[in-house]
Amino acid sequence: MTILILGSGGREHTFAWKIAQSPLCKRLYVAPGNSGTSQIATNININITDFDAIKDLVLDNKIDMVVVGPEDPLVQGIHDFFLKDEELKNVAVIGPQKAAAQLEGSKEFAKEFLYCHNIPTAAYKSFTKDNVKDGYDFLETLKPPYVLKADGLAAGKGVLILNNLNEAKAELKLMLVDAKFGEASTKVVIEEFLDGIELSCFVLTDGKHYKILPTAKDYKRIGEGDTGLNTGGMGAISPVPFVDDALMHKIEERIVKPTIQGLQKDNLQYKGFVFIGLIKVNDNPFVIEYNVRMGDPETEVVLPLLKNDLVEIFKAISEERLNEIEIEIDTQTAATVMLVSGGYPEAYEKGKEISGIENIKDSLVFHAGAKLKNDKVITSGGRVLAITSFGKTHQEALKKSYQNIEKLHFDKMCYRKDIGFDL
Ligand code: AMP
Ligand code: GLY
Repeated sequence: MTILILGSGGREHTFAWKIAQSPLCKRLYVAPGNSGTSQIATNININITDFDAIKDLVLDNKIDMVVVGPEDPLVQGIHDFFLKDEELKNVAVIGPQKAAAQLEGSKEFAKEFLYCHNIPTAAYKSFTKDNVKDGYDFLETLKPPYVLKADGLAAGKGVLILNNLNEAKAELKLMLVDAKFGEASTKVVIEEFLDGIELSCFVLTDGKHYKILPTAKDYKRIGEGDTGLNTGGMGAISPVPFVDDALMHKIEERIVKPTIQGLQKDNLQYKGFVFIGLIKVNDNPFVIEYNVRMGDPETEVVLPLLKNDLVEIFKAISEERLNEIEIEIDTQTAATVMLVSGGYPEAYEKGKEISGIENIKDSLVFHAGAKLKNDKVITSGGRVLAITSFGKTHQEALKKSYQNIEKLHFDKMCYRKDIGFDL
């Protein structure tokens, strides 16, 4: 098969690394890709929301399958675009159709879905600029901290957690009336704060059947001890050590099954990954969010634990026979640590030469914000490289990643030295 992966981060390098191992994959393209994907696939520099350009690429290169990394093309309806086009309708697309992608594209849609299918989640109400005053009244009925969420996609920045009531009211006004997050905050979901520990569950579905992949925990804050600004993710561990059989059973029965059944009941066409963000309160799981794609850097720990041929799984998904696949998972723990540009997630410099990658033998180096320039790997983004290792425990895996990071260098390189600190 000829396969195209859309995206350019560590997640997409990990997909490329895994797909390139499949005997079913004859040719692999990544658009736009990065310095990591260029070593195992052909990078094509196009905009991943330019569907007409993607169509030309797919037809010119006789592509049989498109694996969509990030949410934007899915929320904008790339899968529907393929199905509606005579020349593209037989190309397999891994990712949900537009209506289902609203599970990530709209917080309100996701909350309605959760409520409608009796899936445990925080109590909520949503508001627009026409009923800001009702929003203030609702905030007064809640206890701090207050959770405000821009309804639409806001590049991971649309959730505010505030300790003070007046501040929460002021932010609500900024979001609704002053368009703090642009279009994304024309609606705001206010929800009850859930106090617990977060984890994520990853599910593959063909719309009818599902398979559960290993759980993972990511570390979103820039600072050690989970302090400072939110990032895309500074590291991850899989599986999550505190998820025992009893908790996994609750997650499957209370959350995964009703989610897949809910998609069917609501006629939401879904072939791809469901990323379920959870919070464990006492011993019970609640859904915080759905994402309609894999996580980054969660992919960098979840996929390396999967023993199956990923292309075989994707084929089974597109042919709605995922039930025929037996998922096999490595019994080790995987951990990844992100190396980021100094200053990230605020302003940072790019174009720094990265050295030492060739010296790493017993960890996987996934490139994220990195590109090739005159045969040298240079930084091109905030999150630059993810260093993934395996071990009997997450401590053992992390030790290997941290030892290997000592061999890597770029100007103003930063990373968190405490991944897994809370486990
Ligand atoms: P989201 O984009 O919905 O995942 O929210 C971003 C982050 O905000 C989550 O990863 C949680 O850390 C936090 N968060 C969101 N909703 C809640 C909630 N209801 N209670 C506590 N924390 C939350
Ligand atoms: N690491 C969080 C995400 O991919 O959304």
